[in-house]
Amino acid sequence: MHTLYSRLGANVTAFLARPHRLLIDGQWVEPRSERRFDVEDPGTGAVIARVAEGTAADIDLAVAAARRAFESGPWATSRPAERTRLLLRLAELLEQHGDELAQLETLDNGKPLAVARRGIAGTADMVRYMAGWATKLTGEAVPLSMPGEWHAYTAHEPVGVVGQIIPWNFPLSMAIWKLAPALAAGCTVVLKPAEQTPLNALRLGELILEAGFPPGVVNIVTGFGGDAGAALAAHPGVDKVAFTGSTQTGKRIVQAALGNLKRVTLELGGKSPVFIFPDADLEAAIPGAANAIFFNSGQVCSAGSRLYVHRRVYDRVLADIAAHGERLRLGHGLEEGVDLGPLISRPQRERVEAYVADGRASGVEVLGGRQVLPEHGHFVAPTVLADTRADLRVVREEIFGPVLCAMPFDDDDLERLAGLANDTEYGLFAGIWTRDLTLAHRFARRIRAGSVSVNAHMVNDPALPFGGYKQSGWGRERGREALELYCELKSVAINLG
Ligand code: NAI
Ligand code: MG
Repeated sequence: MHTLYSRLGANVTAFLARPHRLLIDGQWVEPRSERRFDVEDPGTGAVIARVAEGTAADIDLAVAAARRAFESGPWATSRPAERTRLLLRLAELLEQHGDELAQLETLDNGKPLAVARRGIAGTADMVRYMAGWATKLTGEAVPLSMPGEWHAYTAHEPVGVVGQIIPWNFPLSMAIWKLAPALAAGCTVVLKPAEQTPLNALRLGELILEAGFPPGVVNIVTGFGGDAGAALAAHPGVDKVAFTGSTQTGKRIVQAALGNLKRVTLELGGKSPVFIFPDADLEAAIPGAANAIFFNSGQVCSAGSRLYVHRRVYDRVLADIAAHGERLRLGHGLEEGVDLGPLISRPQRERVEAYVADGRASGVEVLGGRQVLPEHGHFVAPTVLADTRADLRVVREEIFGPVLCAMPFDDDDLERLAGLANDTEYGLFAGIWTRDLTLAHRFARRIRAGSVSVNAHMVNDPALPFGGYKQSGWGRERGREALELYCELKSVAINLG
């Protein structure tokens, strides 16, 4: 396995070997705990680096630095065009270092290098999109009806110091989705990456300094959720916390935020339905539905994990999706031609395997999942659970692995089909495959989810807002909405006599 590491660029090996510290106030500093923790390559189980274990004491320092940068220093008075310029510079650096960042992403998270590479290109697009908004966050002149003569207007002001807590499934993209709108809006940030995947956040910290962001604008504290993460969510000096991860931890974040009523945005779990109608272009729908669940080994909040197929095409669709899954090549992300990497960790693998066993025990048919797994690493083969029922745990709970729950439908009553789609505590995403656009529009309206794709799965454009209804979260990422959620809205009324 280790022979694969000879493919790493010299700058990647050099980065891995550097002593990793915390980024606070523009400096790389040792953690107060003086402890470090192991970073694992989930494709081999090998320890590839050790990073600083930040704790509450470091969060205090990082929040104080972010507060100073927000209230004094160059950021406090930064012109919007200056923020645009810095973000554009960062986008350039992300592109320049694309190969290196992709290799780090693959090592840290396990995903195939080609997939990681595309993800890095997407981060540059996101930064550029948000960079443009810095100069376009206009308010409105508001016509008042009160007696007298008035001039009234609204203005967006940055919410202040923001704590950002991100997961491990798309380490660099998640950091960028959080940082770019916050910085465009003029906030300062304390970022805590997931303990499983801290590497690219640290490399990003170096690039942020290189781009020229002033000290304290972005602070990065690696550490564990229950310690550094909890301290950040509860901190009285933080004006807003933005979180992506499990619904369970999301609820803890809300409780932690109560102390100072900080603003909260949450991007949480999902159990997203995909519907294939009998008139759909199956040549597109079958690989579409397969990728919806198997991409990134199913470790995607918006994974299409519940598949509803019209009975007329059900058998064919299921057999083809299972066959599609079996053709996917599992392996270490640095190997050529690999389609799927490992899951992020042993606990995640065990969790996913337990769900499959639970499905089996409840009598559902298991298709696929028979590939020979690589010897090392936390691999799970793509698996289809056929003829599942709405009351099963595998259908109700987020599995976060390459495991699809499929069910046939006979109905063409949209209210009843929407009832199936909406029979979940989540509401992040839904997919519809049909050639009948009237049906697609009517069905899309009836689905309680933040995103709906028709004849496509997950359209990840920086301009398109993304987020959840119900227990999939609060607020939106991407688009103008993301920026506005990093702002307070001020109303100013001037008495003109
Ligand atoms: P998690 O939600 O606990 O972790 C995500 C982030 O939150 C990490 O940075 C972690 O350090 C931090 N965190 C954990 N506990 C915290 C606390 N008390 N206060 C503040 N921050 C805290 O997710 P975990 O345990 O890694 O995965 C468990 C399950 O969560 C997965 O199987 C999956 O179902 C779901 N998940 C969903 C994601 C999504 O994108 N919606 C991403 C990752 C996990
Ligand atoms: Mg890792």
